[in-house]
Amino acid sequence: MENRRPMIAGNWKMYKTCSEAVAAARSLVALAGDADGVEVMIAPPFTALTGVFDVIRQSNIYLGAQNLHWEAEGAYTGEVSGQMIYSAGCRYVIIGHSERRQYFGETDESVNKKIRAALAANLRPVICVGESESEREAEKTFSTLDKQMQKGLEGLSLDQMDSAVIAYEPVWAIGTGKTATPGQAQAVHEFIRKFLADRFEETTAHKTRILYGGSVKPSNIAELMALPDIDGALVGGASLDPETFNNIIQYR
Ligand code: PGA
Repeated sequence: MENRRPMIAGNWKMYKTCSEAVAAARSLVALAGDADGVEVMIAPPFTALTGVFDVIRQSNIYLGAQNLHWEAEGAYTGEVSGQMIYSAGCRYVIIGHSERRQYFGETDESVNKKIRAALAANLRPVICVGESESEREAEKTFSTLDKQMQKGLEGLSLDQMDSAVIAYEPVWAIGTGKTATPGQAQAVHEFIRKFLADRFEETTAHKTRILYGGSVKPSNIAELMALPDIDGALVGGASLDPETFNNIIQYR
């Protein structure tokens, strides 16, 4: 079986000015810049990408963006392309985060276009999926995920899937302090891995990293990482403070 390298990713969302982001990146490099055995990624706002890249480029920390447009360039006021964020130093991009689906009208179709655009720009997509509270209550968790994965990953080849990362983020657990129980999280991760085996190949399912996101903090990371199908975490609130984020990175 392939060995999946654990990944801890920080999604800074719409927090931190350029100088605040650079200062946080400096502290993080001092604490976790030589992390190995776990891959660390931070996704600052667009405005701070180049500044943060200058700070982390000599370290083991990767840069990610939080979104991209699916066209390479064009008259799309306010948008940023994969080529642009790659040129700013990004090697990852978060796609289809529930906040983008909820507030900015992202659909499984736009997620699919963005994944293709990311791959075309040599970026590794971190593809977010997850059910809402009402979907979970109506026992639609697995059907929701199945639809998000079917449509989101439509047309992708085996090779393309090799550079993708999946992040399972139950919408009801994001920023709420509620974390899925280990049992709930493992059941969904197992479902996603089975989906990948059916849709692609068994080896794809073994190789693909599936991150958990939603109120991950230093006190619950070890328990989550101990689960067989959890390969890392996508951390929001607790990634903003470098010491707290480092405590998550050093979960072992
Ligand atoms: P949270 O956010 O850790 O603040 O719950 C996770 C995310 O939205 O990626």
